[in-house]
Amino acid sequence: MLLLFRFILLSSLLVLSSCLDRKITNIASKATPPVHLADSPSGKLQLIFELKDGVPTYRLNKGASYVILSSELGAVLEEEDLSQNFEIIGYQKRDSSSTWTQPWGEVKQIEDTHQELAVFLKHESGKRMNIIFRLYDTGLGFRYEWPEQDGMNKFVIMEEKTEFVLAGNHDAWWLQAYIPNRYEHLNIASKASQIDTAATPLTMKTADGLYLSFHEAALTDYSSMSLINRGENKLQATLFPWMDGTGHKVRAKTPFVSPWRTIKVNEDLNGLVNNYIELNLNEPSKIKDTSWIKPGKYVGIWWDMHLNRKTWYSGEKHGATTEYTKKWINFAAKHGFGGVLVEGWNITWDGNWIENSDQFRFTESYPDYDLEEVTEYAQSKGTNIIMHNETSTGIDNYESQIDEAFAYYEKLGINTIKSGYVGDMIANGEWHHGQYMVRHYRKVVKKAAEHGIMMDVHEPIKDTGIRRTWPNMMTREGARGQEYNAWSGDGGNPPNYIPTILFTRMLSGPFDYTPGILDVLLKDNDEGRPNNRVHSTIAGELAIYVVIYSPLHMAADLMKNYEQHPVAFQFIKDVPTDWEYTKLLKGEIGKHATVVRKDRNSDDWYLGAVTDETAREYVVNLDFLEEGKKYNAIIYSDGPGADYETNPYLMVKYGQIVDSNATLKIALARGGGMAVRFKARD
Ligand code: NOJ
Repeated sequence: MLLLFRFILLSSLLVLSSCLDRKITNIASKATPPVHLADSPSGKLQLIFELKDGVPTYRLNKGASYVILSSELGAVLEEEDLSQNFEIIGYQKRDSSSTWTQPWGEVKQIEDTHQELAVFLKHESGKRMNIIFRLYDTGLGFRYEWPEQDGMNKFVIMEEKTEFVLAGNHDAWWLQAYIPNRYEHLNIASKASQIDTAATPLTMKTADGLYLSFHEAALTDYSSMSLINRGENKLQATLFPWMDGTGHKVRAKTPFVSPWRTIKVNEDLNGLVNNYIELNLNEPSKIKDTSWIKPGKYVGIWWDMHLNRKTWYSGEKHGATTEYTKKWINFAAKHGFGGVLVEGWNITWDGNWIENSDQFRFTESYPDYDLEEVTEYAQSKGTNIIMHNETSTGIDNYESQIDEAFAYYEKLGINTIKSGYVGDMIANGEWHHGQYMVRHYRKVVKKAAEHGIMMDVHEPIKDTGIRRTWPNMMTREGARGQEYNAWSGDGGNPPNYIPTILFTRMLSGPFDYTPGILDVLLKDNDEGRPNNRVHSTIAGELAIYVVIYSPLHMAADLMKNYEQHPVAFQFIKDVPTDWEYTKLLKGEIGKHATVVRKDRNSDDWYLGAVTDETAREYVVNLDFLEEGKKYNAIIYSDGPGADYETNPYLMVKYGQIVDSNATLKIALARGGGMAVRFKARD
């Protein structure tokens, strides 16, 4: 592991220095013109950079139509306003095309073909700042660089001026920023003019039918970006401040780069779902040998607590006992699950564990839970314990134990941690989405990599594609998970939730939604919550495994519910979590979605379809299947008369032999779904 760490450190330094190197070699004369153009590889998009009276601006066009109107760039530092009074001292353009392989993912190969335009600016104060644009056929990324230079070492960003001036008052699907409970809200669908502040990714549809998504990539040591509405279709980047009253947004030291600001531009939703520019804008993997990083499925002692059948805290109903864990291990081993999550295993869940965040111990078990015994038992059965680290945002407390804890987990052979940061918008006195927490999350991912541990983070910082650089950063929550259906007082996740987040939250990366609740009416839920339930049919729950991408997916229900629904459970056992291709066959934001994905480790394909409260019937072509090959289509469909409100358990399973010339009728009940395995015939 020490060697691995050295490699990681060395490659980090190399990448940072190489990305800032270009300043030295490409500075042109002072007569540099004020306008520079970049064209995307097949000319679909055009970027126009223009220095207007010393103010850097950009525009983005798609053919004859405008995507982004003239928008200002720059940042206000504590000492200088680096958004005006610039001259251009050089520029550089280069084309680049490559393909890289994801160690795991929703697709195997990703193409990175772009034109880069680097503009080198000098401020009247003498300070230098570069703006690097990368233009793809499907969008734009740009970032600021502050190279190492005399007179600029440590500096503070007080405000980022980056603007996105929309070419119209588009339809928007968004989450409010700067509100309690982080990203765990239902999307608002409105006109863009109704946005006050929006978290990213922020999705829009233009009157011309273009789909746009605004986000960021490679959020490494910066405050996360939200967008604030400045009126007249102008959105501006806004950053979470440090909380010590200084108003500092980002504390930096040259050489320094901002995250990439990204705008995806797609003509259809399949393009949007398969748009990987943010992954492309992250650095290649710093983990050389990724063979220990394995996608998979897990079960565990979790839903029990959310239903109030068991407790995280000690006592009669304590969930994390050696005995109960062994039952789950037996279940996991019998049904082929690679992990068993055990929450509430460590001391400090008694009392107010959110307020007692400074007391969590990450190596000390409750007396009725023998961590070493259950881990050994799990491994002897061919599965493993998924370690749970709830911090409730006691960051100092967690960081002070992390070396010891992760070394201990590594010694036990535990290779996955699900961590948690329950708390409001403030963590350890700092904004949950500010630079302090961004640094913390990155530190934990790196530490985990040193110890051969994969991460699944709940209450995370949003995904900005860092899984390319740190492929042990598997999945995260960062949205309303299944748990809201068990206990939230606001009606849980409505049927249109999944077909909305596929086109919003999911554009940032994998989501540990914890699907697979087959007892959708939650008969075992706490008596005080009779109205809480899953707002779907059971076929709809199955479809989520395909529609929502996560390299680690949970089968979240209780053992007895799987035993009662063996037919549906079979699909959960079969469905993989690592894909070669992904395609959206049909979809409309907030209404419905039909996704197919090809298994990476076999010739099988899988289909998942979900709908909102409207029942739908349509036919899809199966031309994604390999030509000339026959498949057994094993179809899990809403039965006739199924309805998420009145008849959610009615599911039928039937088979068909199909090939790439065939079609398939999709019939979705209200709040329903369909799941299909296309098993390749020999
Ligand atoms: C909230 C997480 O989303 C949930 O999965 C977990 O069980 C609790 N926190 C306790 O850590």
